[in-house]
Amino acid sequence: MPLFDVYPLYNVTPVSANGIHVYDENNTEYLDLYGGHAVISIGHAHPKYVEAITNQVSALGFYSNAIQNPLQVELADKLEALSGCDGYNLFLCNSGAEANENALKVASFKTDKSRVVAFKNGFHGRTSAAVAATDNPNIIAPINAQQKVTILEFNDIEGVKTELEKGDVCAVIVEFIQGVGGLDQATAEFYEQVDALCKANNTFFIADEVQSGYGRSGKFFAFQHYNVTPDVISIAKGMGNGFPIGGILIHPSIEAKYGMLGTTFGGNHLACAAGLAVLNTIEDENLIDNVNNVSEYFNSIAKTIPQIKNIKGRGLMLGLEFDFEVGDLRKKLIYDHHIFTGGASNKKLLRILPPLTIAKEHVDQFFKALKKELEAVEV
Ligand SMILES: Cc1ncc(COP(=O)(O)O)c(C=O)c1O
Repeated sequence: MPLFDVYPLYNVTPVSANGIHVYDENNTEYLDLYGGHAVISIGHAHPKYVEAITNQVSALGFYSNAIQNPLQVELADKLEALSGCDGYNLFLCNSGAEANENALKVASFKTDKSRVVAFKNGFHGRTSAAVAATDNPNIIAPINAQQKVTILEFNDIEGVKTELEKGDVCAVIVEFIQGVGGLDQATAEFYEQVDALCKANNTFFIADEVQSGYGRSGKFFAFQHYNVTPDVISIAKGMGNGFPIGGILIHPSIEAKYGMLGTTFGGNHLACAAGLAVLNTIEDENLIDNVNNVSEYFNSIAKTIPQIKNIKGRGLMLGLEFDFEVGDLRKKLIYDHHIFTGGASNKKLLRILPPLTIAKEHVDQFFKALKKELEAVEV
């Protein structure tokens, strides 16, 4: 049976990985500055992660959400402690889109409203409401287009005010650092005013931290660079280091009701074991400090390269903007230098999303290769 052909593929076949490296079938080593799309947080095949998953699957891999699962409680407690989101409640699911779908659902249930305000170049996933809130008409099917969504520009505070005062908006959803869109951020003033407007208009403020969360921005959550209090925070990618797990953190003022949300696989034993190993490693290895140190080092070198017109993002969620499209450069980096990087809807942007365990020597290796390719372009 052929695969449904929806992904354009690079001609690389990884068969194993370790730390910041991925290996193909010929044992060629690749430097992973993409982290499988910002997913690999604590590094590939981290021994504590492998041990936790192995032990858990031997004991109990899965049972449904109809029984006591102390691993969920342990995960929620650890997440509260490391994130500083005191008193928030955790609902577990399986992916980023599902996290946002549930976030929007809670907002709609609780406010009894249904329109969503989202932002230009935003990406929130491919399920019904999440994709409707995504600014990409190519991936919105007619069935999704039934949702009521208003897309505004970042920093258009008057627009947000006008829409929220109409009284029918259940949620404003935002990536504090845009991922797929190309690492744009609004101003602190804008985020803080949106937060205040949401609170004044019985509208939920949803922080989509699917990509920017779990330390990638240099704080546990990207919204923590600002003075805001989201009603719901969605999480996924870095949470399981590759094991499919997602979730939402729900503000303590929001009451749960039996049956309001639910899932078969979400929060299963194996996923919780993976999620706990990730949080323990982030703590034990001080990975958020590492993010800040390596980010500073990366930025200090990037600034010295004249062909880089703009450095975007924060922490280890970075974009290098050039004045040419980077498709060929990415191919050269993969095939000639064995370095994975990411692209964005902004075709001139090279995205850097490495495991949070990256060291300065890996940054040196990347810039050596990049400089060589940039020189070749100029010749
Ligand atoms: C900010 C953001 N939200 C949501 C999603 C969707 O996550 P998933 O692909 O796990 O459904 C993504 C995926 O790239 C994302 O970057």
